Amino acid sequence: MRQALLLLSTVAALAAAGCARESAPADNATATTAAATEAAVTVDPAHDEFSYAEPGKVRITDLSLDLAIDFGAKQIAGTATYTLDWIDPQADALVLDTRDLAIEKVEAAGKDGTYGALQYELADADALLGSKLTIQVPERNTTVRIAYRTSPDASGLQWLAPSMTEGKHQPFMFSQSQQIHARSWVPLQDTTQVRFTYSAHVTAPKNAMVLMSADNEPKAERDGDYSFSMPQAIPSYLLAIAAGDLVFEPISERSGVWAEPVMVKKAAEEFADTEKMIQTAEQLYGPYRWGRYDILVLPPSFPYGGMENPRLTFATPTVIVGDKSLVSLVAHELAHSWSGNLVTFSTSRDAWLNEGLTSYVENRLVEALYGKDQAAMESAIAREELKQEFTDANKALQPLSVKPGDLDDPDHNLTGTVYTKGAWFMEALEQRFGREAFDAFLRGYFDHFAFQSIDTTQFRDYAIANLLEKHPGTMSQEEFDAWLYEPGVPASAPQVRSQRFAVVDAARIAWTGSAELPSRQVTGNWSTQEWVRFLEGMPDTLTTEQMAALDAAYHFTGTPNGEIAQRWYPLAARSGYHAADGEMAAFMQRVGRRKLIMPIYNALVQTPEGLVFAKGVFERAEPGYHPITTGSVKAAIARGEEAQAKAKAQ
Ligand code: BES
Ligand code: ZN
Repeated sequence: MRQALLLLSTVAALAAAGCARESAPADNATATTAAATEAAVTVDPAHDEFSYAEPGKVRITDLSLDLAIDFGAKQIAGTATYTLDWIDPQADALVLDTRDLAIEKVEAAGKDGTYGALQYELADADALLGSKLTIQVPERNTTVRIAYRTSPDASGLQWLAPSMTEGKHQPFMFSQSQQIHARSWVPLQDTTQVRFTYSAHVTAPKNAMVLMSADNEPKAERDGDYSFSMPQAIPSYLLAIAAGDLVFEPISERSGVWAEPVMVKKAAEEFADTEKMIQTAEQLYGPYRWGRYDILVLPPSFPYGGMENPRLTFATPTVIVGDKSLVSLVAHELAHSWSGNLVTFSTSRDAWLNEGLTSYVENRLVEALYGKDQAAMESAIAREELKQEFTDANKALQPLSVKPGDLDDPDHNLTGTVYTKGAWFMEALEQRFGREAFDAFLRGYFDHFAFQSIDTTQFRDYAIANLLEKHPGTMSQEEFDAWLYEPGVPASAPQVRSQRFAVVDAARIAWTGSAELPSRQVTGNWSTQEWVRFLEGMPDTLTTEQMAALDAAYHFTGTPNGEIAQRWYPLAARSGYHAADGEMAAFMQRVGRRKLIMPIYNALVQTPEGLVFAKGVFERAEPGYHPITTGSVKAAIARGEEAQAKAKAQ
């Protein structure tokens, strides 16, 4: 394999930290001051630098779990049994990824089926990667079994007390494995380069319903004893589990919603168009290959908007706003059933293959279901954010294809580049080659690479052969490559125009000029996107009088809509509009979705007074935050403290 020599620079790490979509970045920015400790390292571009696994030697082909969920101990305990495919004839060790796991026993099944102990070594933990588990398997057995328990602090699990649920009576737990957190609840080859089928037997308290990213039976008896099977091979980051007071409400034959009883009807109404979305996607890209498509609505502490766990999308309740204006989230997670779950990126540096293609398909589904206007508004908002994100400091992460060493943590990968520039690239291809040809191309791509993990080079080769060379003279390779390997966005990129946003912009400009608020007639049927646009175009700060006037007219403070809150509260923080403080704090405490609350924290920590406020809120909110959110908030507070210490010293 080709080896590339490159420099790992702290500048790149800082850049990586500086531009995350969920605004969670810079978790380690404090640790990496510009010490400029440049180390020369050898990196194989095809290697997954975030896993210890050696998939070239041996591969897990099937995983069988037997687990018990213990809410009191905040622990999952049991066994994982692996079916192995020994590829390299010299190999006699199985290397797995683990994080904070207690390994109790490692055994292999002999020819007669009886288990015998194996020798193993659990290395000291690396802060990012966890502990490498090396198991000696001199007989190269096909079946290996590990008995283990998770830590109450497992990075991939959140344990919620009853008070943090809607119903307030039962505890709740859920996993979030992407990108490298599956290893905190199952010892695994935790890399997208390995796919396995799985089955599971899970026990839990009788009143808890357990669901997995597998064949959940809508009519399953709630008896504390559950069995699952996932017959399609998936990468480790799609392994998922949740347990709590969950009930089911159907949307169609093959689709429905799982949620807490008080939420489930409302959720099913909001997501009523799901079946139509599946059918639209199937018409474009071929059959949905995963059986059921259900949506699990999680408590508001879920750190992401959504997660494409196969057969069971995990979703934040913050998109349930009553008017379907935020259901592009379902379109997005559903689209991953093709781009991501079927064809998967082979290293986190190729994440755009998942998220960029998915964001493009998402927008196509939105257009098909809700019209061109809605799709254009959503694109325009994303592209505006992307523009804000591109700075000279993060040039290394602006190409779609990221160089080895330039990404410091795969969780810092939710960037506008990966999502929005990736989708924009697809739209550029669609425009140039025509919708019909491009749709056929994408469909062929999903079929060609189905159930495989690929990198940017493989995508490029396929596109050159099946698109560029099939339609000569339509797009040059240079132009194509500029999207992949250059920072920024090519000048030839198609522009998006939204008539409805033109109205919003005019209304805002009129108000800032004359203090004349847009009338009900204008704002009466504005949707989430129009309010977002209205607020995003505001100056950095407004006067208290201006803020009060807006608030009196539109009741932004206390809004149940997280997308509006995410824009209004930072503006309030920057403008010193303290009338919003109480509701802002309540929002930050109730919601754990990073994209919605990090902009508020980031705005607050800019001033000494805001920093004190942010720390106070965080202290109260932390017991309810997911480990991923806690990490992001701590980093933001540390950045604020550092900046203010510096300012004081001057
Ligand atoms: N797969 C992602 C979530 C993710 C990415 C988790 C990388 C960890 C590492 C999911 O499909 C996603 O993109 N979620 C978005 C929602 C969406 C509508 C853009 C989110 O959570 O904001
Ligand atoms: Zn996604």
